[in-house]
Amino acid sequence: MPPLNLVEYERLAEAALDPQTFGYFAGGAGDEQTLADNIAAFGRWVLRPRMLVDVGAASPASTLLGGPISMPVLVAPTAFLRLAHPDGEGGVARAAAAAGTIYCLSTLATTTPADLARASPGGRRWFQLYCYRDRGITRSLVQQARETGFEAILLTVDMPFSGRRERDLRSGFVIPGEVEVPSFTSASSGRGSATLAEMVALLDPTLTWRDLEDLVAEAGLPVVVKGILGAEDARLAVASGAEAVAVSNHGGRQLDGVLASLDALPEVVEAVCGAVPVILDGGVRRGTDVVKALALGAQAVMVGRPIVWGLAAQGEPGVAYVLALLHEEVRLALALLGCVAPAQVSRRHVVRRADD
Ligand code: FNR
Repeated sequence: MPPLNLVEYERLAEAALDPQTFGYFAGGAGDEQTLADNIAAFGRWVLRPRMLVDVGAASPASTLLGGPISMPVLVAPTAFLRLAHPDGEGGVARAAAAAGTIYCLSTLATTTPADLARASPGGRRWFQLYCYRDRGITRSLVQQARETGFEAILLTVDMPFSGRRERDLRSGFVIPGEVEVPSFTSASSGRGSATLAEMVALLDPTLTWRDLEDLVAEAGLPVVVKGILGAEDARLAVASGAEAVAVSNHGGRQLDGVLASLDALPEVVEAVCGAVPVILDGGVRRGTDVVKALALGAQAVMVGRPIVWGLAAQGEPGVAYVLALLHEEVRLALALLGCVAPAQVSRRHVVRRADD
């Protein structure tokens, strides 16, 4: 029987991957408190449905940054996907395009933006940016993304240094030299195997809001800021020209002990006050999680690990299956909530659990 849900895919991926690689994809920073809390946070809200609404035509289709998406679920950027399966980033991008949603390519991908565009010419794509200390490399990545059909730059702001990922330290995880990471190869002028921390050491930890303003001015594409966890930074992102903000703690992989993404969402939504769309990622595993995020003000969510699990277990068809499961779960959750479209989900559709 094919997997019935995203958690079952994690078990298949664990069986398919060697323990070191699985640990890299699954793990978080420190004691993994935030990693666990991202998921637990969804359990702290319960749904409050309406009845006798005609939901015969309920559909998860939505829009984001001026274009259509088949559901309010995007594919989050995740690094080194060829370590999970030879289909790599190209396979994930093709599955996302076929599913009608946006694929975010990581700066630390095992392909260049141009090669990804060739491997998956259709579909909507965003490019996730880490700024290298060598600004020439950063500029050329942005230029390449713009010229090959990427629609936005997703600037990740929560990784001036790599979080302390103890699973990787314990297992001695390295990205093998034969797995090409083109942006790192250019930044390091050729290399052998490297740890994630060695790769991240080439990124610029001195970035400030001024750099965001410069990027907005120079990118020639809308800039989305990923990694916001509070009102002050949300307002600064909007004031610096971001066209959307993504509430994220990097899937619990950076500063352990920060609040769960879902717990940060209401504050950020209130702070941006409808000026730009708010996206959420971290711990989304069910269609019901998606509608809870919508009810708390997100326009869309991104999923990270479940996509990697689909890829590791079955390559591109596995990713397609994970996205199909999510699409069906979101459609059903909307309908059972008494909504025909994501835009109808409101703050009245969730209640904070009484025992908290
Ligand atoms: C990530 N994430 C990430 N984010 C980013 O901006 N650039 C990147 O290269 C990566 N790489 C990466 C690798 C792996 C293995 C994971 C699990 C995550 C973070 C990612 O975009 C997203 O914020 C989280 O994955 C969301 O949490 P869930 O859905 O994995 O719980």
